[in-house]
Amino acid sequence: MNDAMGMPQSAVVVGGTSDIARAVLRSLVARRLRRIVLIGRDEIGLAMAARELQALGAQQVDVLTFDVTDFARADAVVRDASTRLGQVDMILVATGVLGDQPRDELDPEAVARVLSTNSTGPAAVLSAFAVVLRQQGHGRIIVLSSVAGVRVRRANYLYGASKAGLDAFAQGLGEALRDSGASLMIVRPGWVATRMTKGRDPAPFATTREAVAADVIAGMERSSAVVWSPGSLRLVFAMLRLLPRGLWRRLPG
Ligand SMILES: NC(=O)c1ccc[n+]([C@@H]2O[C@H](COP(=O)([O-])OP(=O)(O)OC[C@H]3O[C@@H](n4cnc5c(N)ncnc54)[C@H](OP(=O)(O)O)[C@@H]3O)[C@@H](O)[C@H]2O)c1
Repeated sequence: MNDAMGMPQSAVVVGGTSDIARAVLRSLVARRLRRIVLIGRDEIGLAMAARELQALGAQQVDVLTFDVTDFARADAVVRDASTRLGQVDMILVATGVLGDQPRDELDPEAVARVLSTNSTGPAAVLSAFAVVLRQQGHGRIIVLSSVAGVRVRRANYLYGASKAGLDAFAQGLGEALRDSGASLMIVRPGWVATRMTKGRDPAPFATTREAVAADVIAGMERSSAVVWSPGSLRLVFAMLRLLPRGLWRRLPG
């Protein structure tokens, strides 16, 4: 169960090697998070993340290998993770690939891979967790979306479309969970310096994984439905959404 401050004591992370997810976990372990299941496809990377969290004070960190595009296994993996924790206070979904837009858009298989990794796979996993949280009558889901899905750009429309799909799914699931005792928070970061963006030029309003983690914790404390990171992007995108298409095309980045 959550502690007296409403912070989780148990959590499952899908995409357990994600730089942003690990920053969020470090902040939560520094509070009261003690039992964690890390789910992902890279066993060695997951083991390293687990060791780091244990060194910081986590008592139990289990690792489950799972490729999020393996939809047929989603239900079993979610059940396994939930059984290990007994009660799941928090689920963080952090899987994602940026892809290589110029190359991927010419390859239907690559298009499907980006969309299934960023959108369909997470949606399947989220649906399975929603069943668990409804049964428990509590728990918070956190979904790492992106501003890239708020208004999709030609330069990265595969990633943008996949995030738009995930964001819309999460909005609907959040509504579906109302009155269940469980809740869902969508996080929309801008450009974050992580493994995903390594070697790429920072976009305006670029931020760090630690700053995103701080925004996530603040959103949890406020029970927010949507968190923008940095927060200024909320206003920026309120305006960008309304920008005429011709001007939108000419924006750099
Ligand atoms: N960095 C940014 O600028 C930014 C901005 C907005 C939103 N986001 C979102 O934030 C989330 C975390 O990103 P990050 O910046 O922390 O990047 P990251 O460190 O590259 O994390 C991405 C995670 O997705 C996992 N993953 C990729 N494909 C997978 C698959 N098929 N099955 C299971 N796991 C898979 C990776 O696992 P492996 O270790 O196996 O590769 C890794 O754990 C993503 O959803 C991303 O879209 C990032």
